[in-house]
Amino acid sequence: MSASSMRQNFLRFDKLFKAECRLCHTGKRGPNVLITGGLGQLGTGLARELRARHGAETVILSDIIKPEESEIANGPFIFADVLDFKCLQEIVVNKRIDWIVHFSALLSAVGENNVPLAVRVNIEGLHNVMELSKQYKLKLFVPSTIGAFGPESPRNPTPNLCIQRPKTIYGVSKVHAELLGEYYNKRFNLDFRCLRFPGIISYDSHPGGGTTDYAVQIFHDAITTGKHHCYLRPDTRLPMMYIDDCLRSTIEFMLAPTDKLSTRTYNVHAMSFTPEELFNEVRKWVPELEIEYNPDARQKIADTWPMVFDDSIARQDWGWKPSIPLDSLVEIMITNLRRLYKEKEKA
Ligand code: SER
Repeated sequence: MSASSMRQNFLRFDKLFKAECRLCHTGKRGPNVLITGGLGQLGTGLARELRARHGAETVILSDIIKPEESEIANGPFIFADVLDFKCLQEIVVNKRIDWIVHFSALLSAVGENNVPLAVRVNIEGLHNVMELSKQYKLKLFVPSTIGAFGPESPRNPTPNLCIQRPKTIYGVSKVHAELLGEYYNKRFNLDFRCLRFPGIISYDSHPGGGTTDYAVQIFHDAITTGKHHCYLRPDTRLPMMYIDDCLRSTIEFMLAPTDKLSTRTYNVHAMSFTPEELFNEVRKWVPELEIEYNPDARQKIADTWPMVFDDSIARQDWGWKPSIPLDSLVEIMITNLRRLYKEKEKA
């Protein structure tokens, strides 16, 4: 992103945030935000972005995992089990929370390996944050996913509104979240907001057991072993996004004025590629990289998911626009991972 468009983005955020502050009961610089599942792939990055704008104390990361030193260096962290309503309620009250960003969930592949746990975390956990957000009039963000679609959905492109019959417990739980959130919005005026994310790619945090994870692992393999074992077929096309675009979409959407939203659940798109196409891009940086394809159970999941997301409604309603294409993503991943692995070696 160029310096001038970064500055434009900053000014836009700043204006929207000031409007948001007037709406928050705290009357402070920004909303107080609780992030559940905060030590997953997206939490620390979102906390960093929000804290940079509004101060470290305004964002509380929470999880049930013990954090690394680096994950708690920049602001508050608290234990929170999304299955424990009282525990969440205490945080909301004591910390005067205005927004919940509910990242806590089991992804597609791990969900299939432990369905009862996925039901508890993804469905019961959601019920807790939704009820709490209703009671305390919080703004609630819940990510949904390409996995909320199934084989009967149009796959190229997949529109915002179409048939959704997902075949994983992850997808089923996310359709449940979309529908319940939209229902609470209409019935109780809950300010529920939901973005359907593609596979997210990042270098300083790891995805937690999804079907799109190969698109992160291939970069680590390129730098460490020089060989990637891909669990998908070379022609499996899936929508993907670099984490900075994902976090920016979340903040822009949370700040979008209510009257701009024609729905509460939006597809967001950035790029779409196959393992073979990604491999060819990575090889421009690491020519010696080798790949071997051994499709496993995740292939079956990917075969039912969108190949390309139609995000025209998000673009129209609140101005969504991705900024990082595939070649830039590959450059960012390779250069940063090379640096991080070198630093590790020295340590
Ligand atoms: N990255 C997720 C998964 O693969 C999709 O939302 O499960």
